[in-house]
Amino acid sequence: MSTTNETCPMKICCNPKGPIIVEGECNIVDKYGRPLCADKRKKTHVLCGCGQSLNKPFCDGKHNKAGDDSDDDVAN
Ligand code: FES
Repeated sequence: MSTTNETCPMKICCNPKGPIIVEGECNIVDKYGRPLCADKRKKTHVLCGCGQSLNKPFCDGKHNKAGDDSDDDVAN
């Protein structure tokens, strides 16, 4: 399944109480503009949307323990 196209090269999928999945080329940076993702080839990033991750801004799967079972297999 293709999730991006030429007119919109990035897709951001927000899950209630769960991860925010970013598909497409992008740079994830901290508030000072420093890169947070060392792998520049990575095309999918899974960000924490529940606030429970110990590896913010990335999802570490803790949302499953917070009671959201919609994406059990998603972790960064
Ligand atoms: S969305 Fe927060 S740990 Fe996965």
